[in-house]
Amino acid sequence: MIEKLKSLETSFKKVLKETDTEAKLADLKARFLGKKGELSAILKSLAQASPEERKTLGQAANEMKIRLTGKMDEAKGAIERTIIDSKLAADWIDITLTGSQRARSVKESGLHPVTIVQRELEDIFLSMGFDILDGPHIENDFYNFTALNIPETHPARDMQDTFWFKDMKHLLRTHTSTIQIRGMEEKKYPPFKFVAPGKVFRSEATDASHEAVFHQMEGMLIGRDITVAHLIYFEKTLLSEIFKRDVEIRLRPGFFPFVEPGFELDIQCLICGGKGCKVCKQTGWVELLPCGMTHPNVLRHGGIDPEEYNGFAFGLGLDRLVMMRYGINDIRLLHSGSIDFSRQFATC
Ligand code: DAH
Repeated sequence: MIEKLKSLETSFKKVLKETDTEAKLADLKARFLGKKGELSAILKSLAQASPEERKTLGQAANEMKIRLTGKMDEAKGAIERTIIDSKLAADWIDITLTGSQRARSVKESGLHPVTIVQRELEDIFLSMGFDILDGPHIENDFYNFTALNIPETHPARDMQDTFWFKDMKHLLRTHTSTIQIRGMEEKKYPPFKFVAPGKVFRSEATDASHEAVFHQMEGMLIGRDITVAHLIYFEKTLLSEIFKRDVEIRLRPGFFPFVEPGFELDIQCLICGGKGCKVCKQTGWVELLPCGMTHPNVLRHGGIDPEEYNGFAFGLGLDRLVMMRYGINDIRLLHSGSIDFSRQFATC
């Protein structure tokens, strides 16, 4: 019996020498130490041995099992190190290269379409003299609702719409309008203008045009004697920059508690030129940009005197723009994490 154990250890060592992959290691373990393996078979046959023999052999078998397991662990460590080393050798990036040289050396990279469009917009706004601001995803009731003149009874506060934290004081921001207040607090002295791109969160059922996480870009311009005419001129200029051609717009009244008057700005459908198609639901117009003249209460909450200053604000839905630009028909693709989807936008 003891001979059997010895020869098992010898053949184990022999096989171990050739074990250089994780798959081979798993085979080795199953063959020698597994439930149906060679060691188990020897231990089972102990049943027929005398009590004396059982004791010495049992002990020898256990000690051997510990030795073999130790050897296997060592081999496992070595295999893992080889895998890591070969990955490092294949994936390394030369950080001494310039950005564009490096981009070329990384085979399959690319920016997410939302990032591409966001950066383009940021460039347009920077060229128009806007600052770009950022703000927290986790907000409190004041910045997301109260300061924006959104009353307790507003539907956006509902459990269905807002991801509230357990304390019912904090929430995941439902819009980037929070940065209107944070921006005014930071800038303090008009005139100023800024945009704030970022993720927003709504506890909504998802479908082809609704997601629980999506992207907006908020904009605000505060100065003296600003009128709706300024707002219209600005929006037209902005949209022709975005779409690289003149676009027809129309304003409809829209209600948002933080602006007065508030508007829904539609653009004439770029797909059918206003004749009516599936994209514009046969109306010839696509809703794109809610906006309005900032409500005096909002200015006050941001520390700005509404007797002296006024201005306008707007909220761009980034995902809608991305979908129009690239002809994406389901918003859920944007967060699908699918490589096949993202690869289509790779720029190198
Ligand atoms: N915050 C609004 C929303 O998420 C969008 C919006 C509407 C922003 C009107 C504005 C505005 O700045 O003036 O639905």
